[in-house]
Formats: sequence, structure tokens, C-alpha cells
Amino acid sequence: MKISVIGAGTVGATTVQRLAEQELAHHIVLIDILEGIPQGKALDMMESAPIGGWDANIVGTNQYDEATDSDIVVITAGLPRKPGMSRDDLLTKNAAIVRSVTEKAAEAAPDAMLIVVSNPLDAMAYVALRTSGFEPRKVLGMAGILDAARFRCFIARELDVSVQDVTAFVLGGHGDTMVPLPRCSTVAGIPLPELLPGETIARLVERTRSGGAEIVGLLKTGSAYYAPSAAVVSMIESIVRDRKRILPCAAYLQGEYGLRDLFFGVPVKLGQNGAEEIIQIPLTPEEQQALNRSAEHVRANLARLDL
Ligand code: NAI
Ligand code: 2OP
Repeated sequence: MKISVIGAGTVGATTVQRLAEQELAHHIVLIDILEGIPQGKALDMMESAPIGGWDANIVGTNQYDEATDSDIVVITAGLPRKPGMSRDDLLTKNAAIVRSVTEKAAEAAPDAMLIVVSNPLDAMAYVALRTSGFEPRKVLGMAGILDAARFRCFIARELDVSVQDVTAFVLGGHGDTMVPLPRCSTVAGIPLPELLPGETIARLVERTRSGGAEIVGLLKTGSAYYAPSAAVVSMIESIVRDRKRILPCAAYLQGEYGLRDLFFGVPVKLGQNGAEEIIQIPLTPEEQQALNRSAEHVRANLARLDL
């Protein structure tokens, strides 16, 4: 298994560290446009291997030939948010970056699976699909696992229970219009509305929707990376081990949930063939309306791009 991560910033480097420590790939390549950064971070991580007791070969580089024949390419290259910015403010600049890195990655690794992280996520996954020309099942965006993890974390803290017993269901675009579904979120199998009053659930849903901005407001110099990198690695683990986990990911919709020709957060069965199935559930009219609003937001971003 060979995995290349493009963008050696906070998300990219932490993703590589997690992949190496979990021995999910023997050969890991970290690529960035900045000279010295991927090389330095890769060497530092390699020097931690004897202490951590893992074996992996991490190469830091500015060249895409090192990515040749990668099985998976993770795209984290791009600008992160600063306080006061929305993910959409990154659209034009990150689209140019994602287009350029996807071209080079697709040339070096034409059979790879692409996992896009750069924001605004749903639009950037679309740019990667169109630029690479890869099959839709091989291009995925990471966001839903992160959004659901935030919701799970807040639910667990509210009820003072283990996060392990909390599941959460989040649909839609990665932005303020995301659609957390409390009725499909559970604690030890018990639907959330049976455990918490409606106002408390509404407060946790709102905190989930603005979870990214909350971290940006605290860090001030960038955005979240511990939870995002853990989310990327859980997608990779399901693919590499062919576990067929059902994880919320941005996948290319072709009629599912009444939507077509856009990337959108939905439950996806992830295995060695990538997005092996998009799981659909019946929605209430209010939920479908919220989903349609979120889709309009994603489409508005796509319309601003020259695709
Ligand atoms: P960062 O600023 O720490 O790292 C970005 C890296 O990309 C930098 O090292 C930069 O030199 C590199 N880069 C820029 N242009 C490049 C190019 N043409 N080729 C190769 N490398 C290039 O940012 P961070 O925190 O790692 O976030 C990366 C992206 O991921 C941002 O767009 C951020 O908004 C997004 N993000 C998305 C999440 C999600 O849930 N989908 C979660 C967290 C971050
Ligand atoms: C987040 O939700 C930055 O999109 C990223 O933290």
C-alpha cells in the first residue's frame, strides 16, 4: 500500500503521522510546494519511528514522481480559514490549487483513489473529479465523519457517557447548512430525542454546524486538524482493510436523495473499491427541504467556478 498526501500543513502532516503510527501503509509520500517543509516533517516523523515502534517509509518531497503508482492520494493542499472567514471565501484560490495538484497526482498515479480535504470541501471534490477524470466511486471528500464526530463528542459530554456508545448522522454539504439528523443519532441504540429535550438537541446541533468556526476562533492562525486527520485516516482504514464501514463522506450523487451532479455528504459504504454504495434513507419533508437548501449552497459555489 502506497499513500501520498499532498499538502504538508497541519492536516496533511498529522494525517501522515497517524497513517504511519497505525501502519496503514508501508510507503507514505508527503508533498508540498514549499521547499524543505515536507522533507523536514517526513524526516522528523521517521526519527520518531524507533520510539513509537512502527515501520513505514515516509518520503517528504516537492516532486510528484515520488507519488508514482500510489493507491490512495489525499489532497489537503490549499489555504485554511482565518477568523471571520467562511469556507466559501477560499473557493477561487483553493480551486486553482486543487486543480493543479490533482492534474499532477492523476498523472503520477492514474489508478489511485482520491480523498479530498481542501475547502470548500464539496466544491473541491467536484474539481478533483472533473480534473482527474477518475470514476466517481474513486473520488471522495472528507467532512461528514468530522461533523458527526463533533456532534458525537457534544452528545457524549452532555449526557456524561462514553463517545463509543454514541452514533450521529449528518447529511449535506460541509458548511453552515449541513443537516444533522437527531432522530437517526443514538446512544447505545436509543434515539437521541428520547434522551435529551428538544432545546438541548437544538443547541448541540447548532454547535456542530459552527464546530469548524469555533476552532478557528480559538486557534486564530488556522483551522482544525486533529479531528480532521483522524477522520481521513478512518476513511483510509476502511478502504485499505476493505472493512465496508458505513461512513458519512462527500460522494458524487447521481440521483440519490433526489440530487444529481454534485458532491454531497451521505452515508457511504467504503471498501477496497472506494465508494461501493451510497446508503439512502427516507427523509421527512422538513429534512428533505433542509437537504435541498444545503444542495443549493453547494451548487452556488460550483456556479462560481469555471468548470
Ligand atoms: P495549512 O495551511 O496548514 O496547510 C496547507 C498546505 O498546503 C501548506 O503547507 C501549503 O504550502 C500547501 N500548498 C498550498 N498550495 C500548494 C500547491 N499548489 N501544491 C502543494 N501544496 C500546496 O492548512 P491545513 O490546516 O492543513 O488545511 C488544509 C485544507 O484543508 C484547507 O483548505 C482547510 O480549510 C481544509 N480543511 C478541511 C477540512 C474538512 O473537513 N474537509 C477539515 C480541516 C481542514
Ligand atoms: C472544519 O470544519 C476547517 O472545514 C474545517 O474544521
